[in-house]
Amino acid sequence: MTTMYEHLLHLSRAGANILHFVSYEWERVRGLVIGLSTELALPLRIWSQSTGLLRHADDANVTIEDDAATDPLELLKQIHGSDEAGVWLLEDFQPFLREDHHPIHRWLREIARLPQRPRKVVLLSTPLPGLPLDLRKEVPTVELELPSVNDLRLVLADAASALGVRADADDALLDAARGLTVMEARLAFGKAAAERGRLDHTAVPFVAREKERIIKQSEVLEYYPTEIRMADVGGLDQLKDWLERRGRAFGAGARDFGLDAPKGVLLLGVQGCGKSLLAKAVAATWQFPLLRFDMGKVFGGIVGQSEANIRTALQVAQALAPCVLWIDEIEKGLAGMGSSDQTDGGTTARVVGSLLTWMQEKRDPVFVVATANRIDMLPPELLRKGRFDEIFFVDLPTRAVREEILTIHLQKKRRNPKDFDLKSLSGQSVGFSGAELEEAVREGLYDAFAESRELATEHISRALTKTFPLSRTMRDQIEGLRQWAKVRARLANGERPEDLPVEHTESTPPKLRQEAARNPFVPVPRS
Ligand SMILES: Nc1ncnc2c1ncn2[C@@H]1O[C@H](COP(=O)(O)OP(=O)(O)OP(=O)(O)O)[C@@H](O)[C@H]1O
Ligand SMILES: [Mg+2]
Repeated sequence: MTTMYEHLLHLSRAGANILHFVSYEWERVRGLVIGLSTELALPLRIWSQSTGLLRHADDANVTIEDDAATDPLELLKQIHGSDEAGVWLLEDFQPFLREDHHPIHRWLREIARLPQRPRKVVLLSTPLPGLPLDLRKEVPTVELELPSVNDLRLVLADAASALGVRADADDALLDAARGLTVMEARLAFGKAAAERGRLDHTAVPFVAREKERIIKQSEVLEYYPTEIRMADVGGLDQLKDWLERRGRAFGAGARDFGLDAPKGVLLLGVQGCGKSLLAKAVAATWQFPLLRFDMGKVFGGIVGQSEANIRTALQVAQALAPCVLWIDEIEKGLAGMGSSDQTDGGTTARVVGSLLTWMQEKRDPVFVVATANRIDMLPPELLRKGRFDEIFFVDLPTRAVREEILTIHLQKKRRNPKDFDLKSLSGQSVGFSGAELEEAVREGLYDAFAESRELATEHISRALTKTFPLSRTMRDQIEGLRQWAKVRARLANGERPEDLPVEHTESTPPKLRQEAARNPFVPVPRS
């Protein structure tokens, strides 16, 4: 695999005069650019609006060359007119790349078209991605990945020597720091060293906690420790079976055998039937960390922020591989995809585009489990082959599965399922979701407790009678989903559930009758 540095060298050797660097890590960017200028045997100057122009010498000394050169436009004209070859690193250039800074764009384009002699390379460094439209074609963007384990080893050694503590370059410690930027890792190591007086494996839990905190701060991703086992999920046998087979493809022998790391699975289906539950169970079963990715939170903030959010999230997931990336309710982030070009300047489309490209191209073992319960809000690109390994439809539980789910939830409440007439309860609960069955057990417990009696079949039965399951009000939507899934998805449960009972309008309470009316915005499924 080519490293970022090789990529950078390649681009500048190929004649690119301007390159755009995206990273928060100014120190690493500087390090790479110093390497580049040495490799190309060109003098290096570093500019920022606050310091003006600095000259970087071979002995790593930095001297002020021109502290008055704080005007970016003047600087670009100066570079353009210079007879001298060189590398210019323009730090924190973000504010001058706004769409309305036309003179600056113009001069950048002039520089991009300069002949190769004298050789001039200008690197624009910004923390967030996004170039103005008129520069995108002429200026290649290079994104800095998160530090590799080897980079982290350097950071660890550096932190230890700066703090005067002993460091054992423990692999577990470096592993714990994966997913952090250099600055974050340095801070985490520093805090651990201050607390423990050394940096060895005893610092692992400390660094891991620190990482958890930092990931949470990103708001888009969340560490999701879970102990849900597959046995806690009732039914979904086909899906479990498929996952079991895919899980093996993460093993050591699989690559040699010619298998790629599995990409992921899309779980579509009825609410409350165990999609989220299953995502948790997969991670716990495979013993991969579970990262919950909130699509809804990707969007927002200043220009370029949404793209940066998704980029960071995917980078972190990649750095933490092998892991499960759980995108819950993926459709939430994608609302209004079609019209987004008009409404949000194409941000949604770009965010989805980068997610799809990443999914298609990723080689690291990041297993994506995406869940959705609206098909009409999913862009067709997402469903195309090559993105997910498989699409499963999670339908309402069948009679046998309802028995299983009741068993699971009774056992959770430390009751013996044998003491209950599960057959009659599951017969009574056609159209109930797993979540509703769980709720009936809980409701029954309350009743029994109020009556000072032990929980019995009749309590649960009564609770079921009082419940108005979602499948009744959403009958049409569920039918629509089933039709759609028939030819496009595999059934998570081996068999189809019973037909939903036809509702008699007069028995439907008036308020619900209104909700039950067909939603005109749900497209008619194509047959
Ligand atoms: N198949 C099942 N087996 C056991 N429990 C279940 C099952 N399905 C649902 N439940 C119970 O219902 C709760 C909610 O289910 P879950 O969050 O997995 O549903 P979902 O399919 O993700 O729904 P939504 O589409 O609303 O997000 C679970 O935490 C679990 O307690
Ligand atoms: Mg869910």
